[in-house]
Amino acid sequence: MTAALDVKGLTTRFDTRGGSVTAVNNVSFSVDKGRILGIVGESGSGKSVTGFSILGLIDEPGKVVGGSVLIEGTDLRALSPDDMRGMRGRKVSMVFQDPMMTLNPVLRVGDQMAMAVRVHRPMSKPKALEEARRALEIVGIPSPAERLKAYPHQLSGGMRQRVAIAIALLHSPAVIIADEPTTALDVSIQGQILAEVRRLADQTGTAIVWITHDLAVVSSLADDICVMYAGRIVERGTAEQVISAPRHPYTQGLLDSVPAQHEPGKPLPQIPGSTPQLSRLPSGCPFRPRCPRATELCATEPPVDDRDGQIVLCHHPLERP
Ligand SMILES: Nc1ncnc2c1ncn2[C@@H]1O[C@H](COP(=O)(O)OP(=O)(O)O)[C@@H](O)[C@H]1O
Ligand SMILES: [Mg+2]
Repeated sequence: MTAALDVKGLTTRFDTRGGSVTAVNNVSFSVDKGRILGIVGESGSGKSVTGFSILGLIDEPGKVVGGSVLIEGTDLRALSPDDMRGMRGRKVSMVFQDPMMTLNPVLRVGDQMAMAVRVHRPMSKPKALEEARRALEIVGIPSPAERLKAYPHQLSGGMRQRVAIAIALLHSPAVIIADEPTTALDVSIQGQILAEVRRLADQTGTAIVWITHDLAVVSSLADDICVMYAGRIVERGTAEQVISAPRHPYTQGLLDSVPAQHEPGKPLPQIPGSTPQLSRLPSGCPFRPRCPRATELCATEPPVDDRDGQIVLCHHPLERP
């Protein structure tokens, strides 16, 4: 089966006055139809740049310098800018943390959704509005026909984010990339949206990449998980593998600092130190200054260790029985 999204060796660099930084470093993963991949990592690890790189939305001083991005077998990096625009929205779409990146504040929800439909598929406005109504229904918006008449500011934050997800869905894309779309929402609204997203992947077959700094979110939502650190994927596997038997010391550190997994009353362990500046990475493994397992060996490039498809980039991965 051809993967909905297949990313290989994706590498993105920013050449700034302060020097050149590799924000996305040889990133590879694939997502099958109807599956949800979670990308998790601390702020600054390269998650958003990965999403933008996939969509070809990197601007100066950034540049995708290597790798391939295949959507249902089509290499996006080989497309002309016009063909790429044709793919965006239709085959692959993005949901941002701030829904107002997608929504136009001065247009009614229905009008802007109908416009979005008709960009790629000519049809009458009433027909387009009907498609818009159906998309709102799919993301669990109550009385969708009423909401079509609303302006974005008349909706709650959670509703606006659902509308942004509905817009991403309008053309039944093969792939949706969602960049921290529920981070600003309260926990119960977030839970409702995650449940809708799961249903959506199951029912429509859309492959979803869900980017978040919150391991608790991906552990409840994702089928597969990539853990990012300093632009690299340091661990990748099924959600089951990564959550219940992490092998990279960084993943273990992230898991230890999730409140829900922690014994009440004891102080919450935190990974010592802070996320490194990409312009000042140590040689070898970028995590080594913070790693409890680091040795001299870690000053050299960490090898790829693959066990049953659970892949870690580490000299001293945790051993599992
Ligand atoms: N416009 C830019 N100019 C220079 N460097 C950038 C730019 N955008 C991102 N970066 C670099 O890429 C790193 C990763 O950014 P980002 O993908 O936004 O992190 P995340 O989404 O994981 O919080 C940043 O820490 C920064 O070093
Ligand atoms: Mg980000």
